[in-house]
Amino acid sequence: MSNKEAWGSRIGLILAMAGNAVGLGNFLRFPVQAIQNGGGAFMIPYLVCFLLMGIPLLWVEWSMGRFGGKFGHHSTPFILDTMDKRKFWKYIGVFGIFTNIAVAAYYCYLESWTLSYVYHSVIRTFSGQTQDQVAGFFGSYVGLESPVEPIFFWILCLVLNTWILSRGLSGGVEKVAKIGMPLLIIFGLFLAFMAITMKAGDHGAINAGTVGLNFLWTPDFSTIWTPKVWLAAAGQIFFTLSVGMGSIQCYASYVKSKDDIALNAMSAGWMNEFVEVVLGSAIIIPIAVGYLGIENVVEMTKNGGLGLGFKTLPYLFEQWGPMLAVISGVAWFGLLFFAGITSSLAMGTPVMGFLQDEFGWKREKSAWTFGGVVLLLGLPTVLFFNYGVFDEYDYWAGTVSLVVFALLEIILFSWVFGINKGWKEITDGADIKVPSIFKFIIKYITPLLLGWVFIASLPNIWSKITHDAIKKQILAATDPVVIEQLHTQMLYVNISRIGLILVWVGIAYLVYVAYKKRMKEKRFTS
Ligand code: TRP
Repeated sequence: MSNKEAWGSRIGLILAMAGNAVGLGNFLRFPVQAIQNGGGAFMIPYLVCFLLMGIPLLWVEWSMGRFGGKFGHHSTPFILDTMDKRKFWKYIGVFGIFTNIAVAAYYCYLESWTLSYVYHSVIRTFSGQTQDQVAGFFGSYVGLESPVEPIFFWILCLVLNTWILSRGLSGGVEKVAKIGMPLLIIFGLFLAFMAITMKAGDHGAINAGTVGLNFLWTPDFSTIWTPKVWLAAAGQIFFTLSVGMGSIQCYASYVKSKDDIALNAMSAGWMNEFVEVVLGSAIIIPIAVGYLGIENVVEMTKNGGLGLGFKTLPYLFEQWGPMLAVISGVAWFGLLFFAGITSSLAMGTPVMGFLQDEFGWKREKSAWTFGGVVLLLGLPTVLFFNYGVFDEYDYWAGTVSLVVFALLEIILFSWVFGINKGWKEITDGADIKVPSIFKFIIKYITPLLLGWVFIASLPNIWSKITHDAIKKQILAATDPVVIEQLHTQMLYVNISRIGLILVWVGIAYLVYVAYKKRMKEKRFTS
C-alpha cells in the first residue's frame, strides 16, 4: 500500500475536522440565509436540522471513513464498495470526489479575494471612499477590469493550497489547522465584541449592535412551517458541516481502527456550530443592521450575500477610524482566509487519497494534479463570474449533489450495511455513550427527512434545468443588448453544466479503471 498518511495527534485531527467544517459558509453564507429567511424564523428549523440530520450524518460519515480506512480506502468510491457487494455503490461514491473538485473550483477563487482584501485593508485602499466606491471596487474586481490582480491572488491561493497538501496530513493540513483555527477564533471574538458593543449614534451607527442580534434570536413562530425556510436551513446545515461531500469520510479514514470517533465527531461538529451560531451571527448582521437598518440589509442580500462581507463591511470598518479600520479589516479578511483554507484543504484530500490508493501516486504528484484540475475547472468561474458560472457550480455541486449523496449513503448505512453493524461502527472505541435514541433517528428519521428535502427540492431543480429565471428576465427585458447578454449567460451556464457532467463522468471512468486494475491484481476490495 502506498498511502501511509496518518494524523499526528488527536487535537490535530479535531482541529483539522473543525477546520474542514468551519469555512466561508459560516461567516458569509449563514448570515445571509438567516436574513433571507426571516431571522428568528430560521433558527428553529436550523437547530432541528442540526440535531436530526447534522449530528446523525456526522456519526455516519466518521464511522464509514474509519471503516473504509481499515481496508486501506481513503475516498468514497471504495469506502462504499466495502460496505455492500453490489457494484453500483462505487459509482455513487463518485459524488464524494466530484463535489470536492467542483466546490474547490469556485471556493478557491472566493478564498483568494480574502487574501487580496487583507492586502487592501493594510494599504488603506478603502480610506475616504464612499459606500458606493467600496462596492464598486468589488464590482470591478470580479468584473476583471484589471485582471492581473484577481488572477495573481487566485493563483497564489491555489499554489498555497497545493503546496500545503503536498506536505501531507500531519506535516501540512494539521499544522495549518493548529495555527489557523485558534487565530480565527481570536479574530472572530474581537469582531463580535466590536459588533455587539456598538451603540446607536457612535461613529454614525443608527442602531445598536443588539438590534441585529435580536432580529436573529427572537423566535418567530408565524412562518415556521414554510417549506422554503426548512429547505434553506437543511441546505445550510449540509454546507456548513461539510456532510454529504466525502471529505469527512476521507479525514476519518486516517483514524486508527481502535480510536474513538463518537466524541471526536461531536467535538468538531459542535465547534463548527459555536463558530457559526455565536461568531457567524455576531459579526456581519449586527454591524450591517447597525449602520443600514434591517430593511436595507434584507434588500441587499436578495441577490446572494457575498456582497455584505466584501462590498459593505470594509466601508463600515472605515467609520471606526483609521486604526480600527486596519485592525478590523485584517481580522475580518484574515479570519475568512483561515476559515477558507482549512476547508479547501479538506476538498483536496479525497482526490489525493483516491490517486494514491488506486494508482500508487506519490503525495506530491497527487497534490499538484488536484491543483491543476482546480485551476482548469476554476478558470471559467474567474473569467465569467458575472455570467453566473460561479453560482451554477455552487448550486449543482454545493447544494444538490450534497443532498443526493447524503440520502444514498444513509440508505446504504442504515438499510443495506444495516443499522446494527452501523451502530457497532459508531460506538466502537467511543469515549462517550452515544444516546441510543440516535439508533432510531439514524435508521428512520434522518433518511425520511433527507428524502423529504430531496423531493421538496425537485421543483426548484427543474426550474433551474429549464432556466426559468433567465427566461423570465428575457421576457421582461426590452433592450436588445440586455436580451443578448441574457442569452450569452444561458450559453455559459449550459457550458459550465456540461463541464461539471464531464468531470463526474471522468471520475467515474477512473473508478472503473481502478476497479479493473484491482481485479487483475487480485487486490479485492474488502
Ligand atoms: N463547510 C465548509 C464551509 O462552511 C465548506 C466545505 C468544507 C466543503 N469542505 C467541503 C464544501 C468539501 C464541499 C466539499 O464553508
